[in-house]
Amino acid sequence: MRSKSLNKTDLLLSLSNLLKLNEIKNFEEESQIMIAYAGSREKFIDVKFNKINENILESIVKERLKGKPLSKIIRQKGFWKNIFITDENTLDPRADSEIIIENILNDLSSSKIKDHFFIDVCCGSGCLGISVLDEFNKSSCDFIDISEKAISVCKKNISKIKVESQSSTYISDLFTKYPVERLLQAHFLICNPPYIPTNNYYNLDNQTLYDPKIALDGGEDGIMYYVKILNYLKKVKFTGDIFFEIDPIIINNLEKFLLEKSLKIVYKKTDYRNLDRLIKITFPLTY
Ligand SMILES: C[S@@+](CC[C@H](N)C(=O)[O-])C[C@H]1O[C@@H](n2cnc3c(N)ncnc32)[C@H](O)[C@@H]1O
Repeated sequence: MRSKSLNKTDLLLSLSNLLKLNEIKNFEEESQIMIAYAGSREKFIDVKFNKINENILESIVKERLKGKPLSKIIRQKGFWKNIFITDENTLDPRADSEIIIENILNDLSSSKIKDHFFIDVCCGSGCLGISVLDEFNKSSCDFIDISEKAISVCKKNISKIKVESQSSTYISDLFTKYPVERLLQAHFLICNPPYIPTNNYYNLDNQTLYDPKIALDGGEDGIMYYVKILNYLKKVKFTGDIFFEIDPIIINNLEKFLLEKSLKIVYKKTDYRNLDRLIKITFPLTY
């Protein structure tokens, strides 16, 4: 491919055309990411044409044309302001989830507290908590996931993005191995739990099925994790806020549950595609 190209722009054009012909939706963006990776740079703009490894580029293209998501081939994905390591044990960070970061940053900027302590439950790659820490260097976060392999990826990201001094990790089935006294000190929680109703799981598109099932299957009605987490927080008398990622597929069931439990919704936000994506719930200061 490179031998036919005169420069980086020609290469980008011919690669984009190839991906477009093969019906890859984000053909331009993906071409730039592929070239950046094969040129050992995070950004396409920083790549030197003569440093592009043609063999690496060709093998990425070959796998991509067989249908494997690019992030699962190069084991990394851009999210918010960083590139995160991801693999077959972690959900690839999604652009839709950036709305969570945007709103947390907005809320924290107007808060008097500058050294927030928060928990990223169901952290996977750690993209949510790490992105917040990267913006607020006085804040700290505990990362919880049931998957030891996901926590290992999360640890790599913590060190890649240099937030080690602000982070601790826990392998735990929700809060079962997490100290309750620590939970009660948290100012807020972030959580993007698995939320695909079990019956919908096998109808997911092929690309999504490359993500681990444990990161997607949210039980019969999709709200199993929300229910478990909220019931537990109520039981231990947690005071503070929780920012949950949501989806149109579960919002009716979840709102019904919140109403039954008299839990207060602070706000609900849609993502860039105008789909319900974030709900902020608050627990009272006194019970
Ligand atoms: C939808 S992914 C979210 C990953 C990451 N927070 C993100 O937004 O990209 C859900 C995560 O929950 C984890 N998980 C599933 N069941 C869990 C449980 N019982 N306790 C803790 N984590 C769990 C999965 O391993 C997966 O990493």
